[in-house]
Amino acid sequence: MKSLILIGFMGTGKTTLGKELAKRLQLPLVDLDTVIVQEQQMEIGEIFVRFGEETFRQMEHEVLCRYAAQPNLIISPGGGAVLRAENRAVMREHCFVISLLAQPQIILERVNQERTVRPVLEQREPGQSKLERIEQVLEQRMLCYREADLLLDTSHCPVEQLANQVVTWLKEQTGEAL
Ligand code: S3P
Repeated sequence: MKSLILIGFMGTGKTTLGKELAKRLQLPLVDLDTVIVQEQQMEIGEIFVRFGEETFRQMEHEVLCRYAAQPNLIISPGGGAVLRAENRAVMREHCFVISLLAQPQIILERVNQERTVRPVLEQREPGQSKLERIEQVLEQRMLCYREADLLLDTSHCPVEQLANQVVTWLKEQTGEAL
């Protein structure tokens, strides 16, 4: 089967749903940020500070190309992996693209619960709140997040239910029992 790739802004639940789907479908989960951190021996925030965002985007592109063409994976890329048109083309060519959406307020609550440094949310103009920054970046990226085979709003939906929706949809797509 073609791999599944879960796109979406940070805090939309890519990792949570990815883990649930990996369990349900008995497939390995590949978190692309984790691959980058392991290979660079450096946290994402540190890569941004030391090398800049462009270098990170190039690493992200290379890791995506390496995994997207492999079958039978659940792939969770970082939220900005959709920014390059080339990346979106690679995803669409090789994978089932599932896009996770969530309301900005929900995203804020979720990211505030985690300790991970989110460089894109730190890049705020003076006086800009974190919620305003989330709304701004979401708006810039929304068309990219809509380029998908299946769109799911994760704002108020339990992960088990989301996984059910994906599995049902996947059965329709593949004609397989799964
Ligand atoms: C980013 C999202 C992060 C990480 C990096 C950049 C983005 O991944 O790749 O901080 O541009 O939205 P998550 O979406 O997993 O938080």
